[in-house]
Amino acid sequence: MRIYRPLIAIAALAAGWSLAQPQKDTPVPLYKNPKLPVEARVTDLLHRMTLEEKAAMLAGSGWMESQPIERLGIPAIKMADGPIGVRAWFGSSAVTNAASTPKITSTAFPSGIAMAATWDPDIVAQAAKALGQEVKALGRDMILGPTVNIARQPLWGRNFEGYGEDPYLASRLVVAFVKGVQGEGVIPSVKHFAANNQEFERHRIDEKIDERTLHEIYFPAFEAAVKEGGVWSVMSVYNKLNGIYCAENPYLLHEVLKKQWGFKGFVISDWGSTYSTAATVNAGMDLEMPGGEPMKRWLARPQTQADGNGAGWLTPDKVLPAVQSGQISAATVDDNVSRILRVMFTAGLFDKPHTGGGAVDTPEQKTVARTAAAESIVLLKNEGDVLPVAKSVHSLAVIGPNAAVARTGGGGSSLVRPNYSVTPLDGIRERAGNAIQVTYSQGVSIPGEDASKDSASARAQLRKDAAAVAAKADAAIVIVGNAPSVESEGFDRKSLNLPEGQDELVTAIAQANRNTIVVINAGSPVAMPWIGQVPAVLTMWYGGQEGGHAIASVLFGDFTPSGKLPVTFPARIEDTPAYGHYPGQNLHTEYAEGIYVGYRHYDQGGIVPLFPFGHGLSYTKFDYGDLKITPDKTGPGRRVQVSMTLKNGGQRAGAEVVQLYVHQAKSSADRPPQELKGFRRVMLLPGQAQGVTFTLDPRAMSFYSAARHAWVAEPGMFDVMIGASSRDIRLKGSFELTVR
Ligand code: BGC
Repeated sequence: MRIYRPLIAIAALAAGWSLAQPQKDTPVPLYKNPKLPVEARVTDLLHRMTLEEKAAMLAGSGWMESQPIERLGIPAIKMADGPIGVRAWFGSSAVTNAASTPKITSTAFPSGIAMAATWDPDIVAQAAKALGQEVKALGRDMILGPTVNIARQPLWGRNFEGYGEDPYLASRLVVAFVKGVQGEGVIPSVKHFAANNQEFERHRIDEKIDERTLHEIYFPAFEAAVKEGGVWSVMSVYNKLNGIYCAENPYLLHEVLKKQWGFKGFVISDWGSTYSTAATVNAGMDLEMPGGEPMKRWLARPQTQADGNGAGWLTPDKVLPAVQSGQISAATVDDNVSRILRVMFTAGLFDKPHTGGGAVDTPEQKTVARTAAAESIVLLKNEGDVLPVAKSVHSLAVIGPNAAVARTGGGGSSLVRPNYSVTPLDGIRERAGNAIQVTYSQGVSIPGEDASKDSASARAQLRKDAAAVAAKADAAIVIVGNAPSVESEGFDRKSLNLPEGQDELVTAIAQANRNTIVVINAGSPVAMPWIGQVPAVLTMWYGGQEGGHAIASVLFGDFTPSGKLPVTFPARIEDTPAYGHYPGQNLHTEYAEGIYVGYRHYDQGGIVPLFPFGHGLSYTKFDYGDLKITPDKTGPGRRVQVSMTLKNGGQRAGAEVVQLYVHQAKSSADRPPQELKGFRRVMLLPGQAQGVTFTLDPRAMSFYSAARHAWVAEPGMFDVMIGASSRDIRLKGSFELTVR
């Protein structure tokens, strides 16, 4: 215990305390003094704890609570699932969904992929702030999110939770999210570290991924969360990476996260992802979840075992003997506990406990949810400017399995229960008012939602009824897509196709009404065999509780669409990067495509996608000009400024997302044809012009060298491409990176 004395002395000095004052005379323990620096409080509290108390803190006490230590007044960290709203915390989905379990409602914000489609860090920060407020209002301390795993392949059941296929876009958004939540004194947990890119055998799959690919594709969002966001917690993941479970992977947790990136917060396990004691603690796992009786009851279930979950390894009865036998050092346990305490002090959990009772779903929070939903909608196709709905339209047929149901999110641990939600049909009716007659027909139902509608004959009848409704209207809006039963955590989609009967429905409606507008509500790319038959297509992801208002505002032109695709929409599954390597064999999967994920793959292979990364149309038009790159020759470690002028050359106010891509043609390493290194969402009135500037730092010029275990910027020429999508480049220039 004496080893702590010097540290206490330093802390006391820092706080202006007299060193002569003996600690036993201190009226209030140092750690209880909110005015002292966090490190001083951590050191003091750690000094007062027994080894038994420290060991107890390495595992949870409940389903969503860490271990409190009453003797010292250490509270439990009270968690809730997210990241797109606050979810009930009473147990696994089986428990929270049971009728007898108290219902917890909160604002359902748009899904992660929807937030990514806004390309707007400001709205992400606002949504995160609102989320943080709701966490506190519900008496919790921590929200389990955001999900920043890369959309490696379109069938992953959790694509809707993440920020898409590009590491730079995901990095910018996660930093905004982390700052928004932490600004409220709430603990986020960036998840799942690392490379959770499939649900198939997620507990057992062993992923072979090379070092460069990890650093360039799967790590950057976590790295940015740590280095730029200063994130307080990182959640580990179920899968193995290169032969070792991620929860006991020293390369991931110790070497990369804590040593290379300087992470000061705590690592939390995913729920049921631990399989050992000493190896897990020594690798850098700080807190195992869940814990206590809820964990024991859950683990005892045959299904929990069959799924491959592991839990109950960091409990004191296992940790203490491992410390006593020397398998785990006391210093390691101190480090684990310090990390948890550091975050608790920083978040104010000792000084300002979140007792709950604040407002949820306030008008401001609803407005953020609605704005984000509107910004996320991507106009994929608009032939003949069929949108926005013309003044000459007096009747609208609204059709489809996702028209009269608000699909606010995908399935699994992120699905929240809002107080209310607006269906697209409600949103359209409300906006249409008396001026436009709106008729509705379901057309087809999501398989399994109503068994009586799932037979071929029932489908044919529903389709016929819907086509008859469409034929009588001036225009038809067909709202198709997925649902939590089809797209969810826990399993992957079986194919790119929309659920059964939906493609046939679109074709039938397109034949009945040539002004057919298709709206897709899904969290990942879907195939569109009917794309040539309809003039307009939009995608609204899962837009949260305000999705129905948002889509109506875009359809009627109250809001000019500005969303851009955060994922490539492939023409066929055979074209996708991981095709042939997913889902793997014998519990192994090789990420053989390496860094060629998303548009990097399509560009490299010269593959024409259905819709490219970054694509999204507008009701107005933007002119790009005046590209300037300064300096055009620069030395190592320096930055380059890129500027251009964007002008709204159309008739409507609207926002454009200007995208900047970089390429180095001559390099000792294989470099993708283009990589996103900057973007800006710019709002302009008709005729208005604005200068847009980007800064390219050394990282924007670098690749990760596995040989040197470092990012390397090689001298040579760099192409700079600026455009409205990855396949709509409007301006090109270059600069040279010189040797000195
Ligand atoms: C999920 C996590 C979630 C946790 C707690 C896990 O199954 O992978 O994302 O936060 O459960 O519900």
